Amino acid sequence: MRRHLTLTLVLLGLVVFASRAEAQMLTADYRVIPLPMSVQTDTLHFFNLQSGMGIAYDASDDEVSRTARFLQQWIEEATGIRLMLTPKDKRAAIRLQIGLDADKKKKGKKAYTNASPLTGQQQEAYVLKVENKGVTLQARQPVGLFRAAQTLRKSLPLVKTNVVLLPYTKIEDEPRFGYRGLLLDCARHFFSVETIKQMLDVMALHGCNQFHWHLTEDQGWRFEVKALPRLALEGSIREQTVIGPNAGIYDGTPYGGYYTQDECREIVRYAAERYINVIPEIDLPGHMQGALHVYPNLGCTGGPYPVRTEWGVSREVLCAGNPETMEFIKTVLGEICDVFPSKLIHIGGDECPKNRWKDCPKCQAKARELGLTFDGKHSVENQLQTYINHEVEKFLNERGRDLIGWDETLEGGLTSGAVVMSWRGVKGGIEAARQGHRVIMSPNVFAYIDHPQLKDVAKQPRTIGGYIVSASKVYSFEPVLPDSLTVEQQQCILGQQVNLWTEYIAYPEFAFYQLLPRLGAASEVQWCRPEQKDWDSFTARLPRLLRLYDRLGVKYCHGLE
Ligand code: ACM
Ligand code: ZN
Repeated sequence: MRRHLTLTLVLLGLVVFASRAEAQMLTADYRVIPLPMSVQTDTLHFFNLQSGMGIAYDASDDEVSRTARFLQQWIEEATGIRLMLTPKDKRAAIRLQIGLDADKKKKGKKAYTNASPLTGQQQEAYVLKVENKGVTLQARQPVGLFRAAQTLRKSLPLVKTNVVLLPYTKIEDEPRFGYRGLLLDCARHFFSVETIKQMLDVMALHGCNQFHWHLTEDQGWRFEVKALPRLALEGSIREQTVIGPNAGIYDGTPYGGYYTQDECREIVRYAAERYINVIPEIDLPGHMQGALHVYPNLGCTGGPYPVRTEWGVSREVLCAGNPETMEFIKTVLGEICDVFPSKLIHIGGDECPKNRWKDCPKCQAKARELGLTFDGKHSVENQLQTYINHEVEKFLNERGRDLIGWDETLEGGLTSGAVVMSWRGVKGGIEAARQGHRVIMSPNVFAYIDHPQLKDVAKQPRTIGGYIVSASKVYSFEPVLPDSLTVEQQQCILGQQVNLWTEYIAYPEFAFYQLLPRLGAASEVQWCRPEQKDWDSFTARLPRLLRLYDRLGVKYCHGLE
């Protein structure tokens, strides 16, 4: 007995001696990235989360159950603490609940507007409370519980321990924008399904909800079309690849790869479980040399067209005057709609040189048939592209989808319900919003994360040049431009996207290096209100996120500018 008492006192002494530093190490910090809208923390009171405690949830709800399992996994991954899934136990340490107290108080009234899925950020709202009875995650929808669980996950200390101290808190959160995107170019270089899944996990960690999947290019066609099997089989393979910039030196190695429709569906499923929508892009009528290689009859000159082995813009584009072109587009987009449930379908529309169309008898005949003449603003050829856009939009609308395109789609006069993705700066986005179109801001100088992130090029792997898109540059972007847009026009800005083009990015490790931590910076552009944004605060909060990247085994750039 006495020995026990002595041992207890010694242990107690050790605990007190070690307590302050250790307690700090074991304490959660809710100032995560992206920063929640409101965090009120009482740092004097803690709930002790320990192994063996339970997570309670409504097991009849599959989505909520899935999020409970994710949370269990994330807590164990970060801390080693293994919680039990105890659906029925209302006294469990962590409880997942649908319904916000604030909504219940507003009985009879609608507490939030019934926004469309694209502006549904209020549907993602959640409250995360830590009190003496434990942790409560409350949300209007299961997606909100997922967001809350990510916040709790990112708050945790990354130490293997038996107990974590959770300061009492009340976090109220919802994203600023409904559209929070990342583009991955899988056409210049091919990335495996496993890599894409890892990227989707990283996106979800940052609260992103739109994966823009760039699937087709001059340098390779990567989407299986069942009705046109040669398209992927042959159009996906280039004979070799230029080394570095287009300096005439080639690697002499054939390069290819494509995604079967089953694989695409698997990506869609995996993304949906993480509340990410997959927007496929079939870039047309330019950036089509992969397809032209297989179907040279669809080009103005008849080819031959090798799958392109250099970067840059090809002047070989789909012929606008050949009726087979529209048939081809509809066949491809029909299958795209079968595979991808996304409301938005991206049809590219960027960088389509018009030289071939100017010289092509079929294109010119089509322009005459349509009665196109220069209208003082839009060239005949730009209007030809608009004609294609119109046809494609009709086709998509009939299938309940909306067209989204790069800002060039504005040049010939834009189709009515189309969404514009502004990449050549913000000008196209401003113009589109003034015309009442919905807009995603993705301006190259702030959002093109294929560009270097550090000034000293010697400190980073070689990538596409031109300008520096440092993390702080990404962070500084404000997607809504009150000096240029009225309050009503500002409502057209659905959100922001960063783009990972891959001309120079051949391997997953380099892709993640380019992505991180710039996606962290972008996540605060996408999620936080402008008054919350502060670069110094961001850099102070970043180290814990970097440690989580380490824990997850994803590469990132160690420099930060
Ligand atoms: C683009 O960067 N051409 C959209
Ligand atoms: Zn033509």
